[in-house]
Amino acid sequence: MLRQLVDFFFKKKRQIDESEQIAKEKQKKQGKLTARERIERIVDPGSFHEWDMFVQQASTELGLDKKFLPRDGVITGTASIMGHPICIYAQDFSVAGGSLGLAHARKITKIMDHAIKLGIPIIGINDSGGARIQEGVNSLAGYGEIFYRNTKASGVVPQISIILGPCAGGAVYSPALTDFVFVVDKISKMFITGPEVIKTVLGEEISMEELGGARVQAEIAGNAHFFAESEEECFEQVKKLVTFIPWNNKKKADPFPPKPPKVDYKISQIIPEDPRQPYDARDVIKAIVDDSDFLEIMPHFAPNVVIGFARMNGETIGIVANQPLVLAGVLDVDSSDKAARFIRFCDAFNIPLLTLVDIPGYLPGVDQEHSGVIRHGAKILYAYSEATVPKITVIMRKAYGGGYIAMCSRHLGADFVFAWPMAEIAVMGPEGAANIIYKNEIANSPNPEETRKQKVQEYIEKFANPFVAASNGYIDAVIEPDETRKYVLHSLFISKNKMEQVLPKKHGIPPF
Ligand code: HXC
Repeated sequence: MLRQLVDFFFKKKRQIDESEQIAKEKQKKQGKLTARERIERIVDPGSFHEWDMFVQQASTELGLDKKFLPRDGVITGTASIMGHPICIYAQDFSVAGGSLGLAHARKITKIMDHAIKLGIPIIGINDSGGARIQEGVNSLAGYGEIFYRNTKASGVVPQISIILGPCAGGAVYSPALTDFVFVVDKISKMFITGPEVIKTVLGEEISMEELGGARVQAEIAGNAHFFAESEEECFEQVKKLVTFIPWNNKKKADPFPPKPPKVDYKISQIIPEDPRQPYDARDVIKAIVDDSDFLEIMPHFAPNVVIGFARMNGETIGIVANQPLVLAGVLDVDSSDKAARFIRFCDAFNIPLLTLVDIPGYLPGVDQEHSGVIRHGAKILYAYSEATVPKITVIMRKAYGGGYIAMCSRHLGADFVFAWPMAEIAVMGPEGAANIIYKNEIANSPNPEETRKQKVQEYIEKFANPFVAASNGYIDAVIEPDETRKYVLHSLFISKNKMEQVLPKKHGIPPF
């Protein structure tokens, strides 16, 4: 009897191993790795333990009884990445197009439940044709139960989605609910309604790539946080991200050995003399953080704001910076969304925030107003005000109008605010301000152009500097640019045990 059972086990195991061979052939034809290969390349060698290998499809409808769907098209298990414990699943497109049936969904929800209970990140690799058509409402139920857990896990354990094939229909909403989405050029495709439906309903022809390929997601739609040219590059990005984030919301990210910035980056040499000349905010970041190592998030979407992780004295920090190279670093609909979500991630996972300010204001224009810049712009105010992690702000050059307030000003609860001597803090830029408040004086003077210049200069001397704000206590210190790292390090050290009470409430109502 025992012999028979052992034989039966090995027969089943052989079937699964053979299916891996078939998967290799099918996936290779599409330039893709198999689900198993993907997991093994992301996690530490030998660390992956697979669970629920023998689960089979729950339905026998519409010919499913005649099909052997190994693992019901998804591999689930636990492993480590750079010593960091994680839960992981990978959909197997070679098995019924990676479509999601009930058993497939239950394997995913089970590994998600593990991640939540064990307090470790969950990584999902998506490569699927969506809800398994033959399983009808049970597939929809499966998706619903995944979305439910994505939401429950939000802010408790980090959630990472890697899109390595189609992610079609309602399936896209699981990645959309997670914290970080990775895409790979030519391989990732995300859409709610595919090209066939668009052709039927709207009569428009569009390829899957143009509709929802990796570049679209990373540059236009803003659904993806990381873009890679190949699966290998993507896996390196995932591994790097995992080193910056904690296991769960009760922990801090693992510290690294502290390192000074690389000598090539010196702030005083990065900032141009002329305040109208732009510079790359990422160079300033590299001049401040450990080893000049900055992991930028969403670099191709709304690049007028820069967000990402770095370390100071070996500890992870989140950075939000206006980017003078793009649209002079204004805030608009997309950059407000991008920054607000990042701020909320950092706050949920105990990551202090460093904000670098150089902003002429919110982007003016009909397009922005009609796209809801009021509603979207409010998200960044909400996110900063709500955040209770240490908040440190450095005003580098311009801090005008709503932009001054929004970029983590003292008034939104910043713990330490510093300004460089050339900072300009005012309601609006000198030209615009002088034209409005001295309108009549300029118009009635014998030489309006000369008077205008004079008034602009007067305004600059009076308001466009950091000293009015400093004299009101809105700024803690006016510092030399090259002293920035020293001041930020000290502020982080002093804020280590920051305690801020939140008013009792079920939850706030951010302007989603
Ligand atoms: C069952 C599916 C499937 C699905 C693919 N397959 N999608 N089986 N349910 N949803 C199967 C195919 O029958 C085929 O089986 C195998 O997977 C490979 O599919 P192909 O079409 O041959 O592959 P390819 O040409 O690469 O095209 C991939 C694809 C296409 C673009 C993903 O299959 C497709 O458009 N599928 C449907 C996508 C979709 O609209 N999904 C939304 C479903 S509704 P064999 O046996 O021939 O190998 C949904 C709602 C969820 O998801 C709502 C939640 C809120």
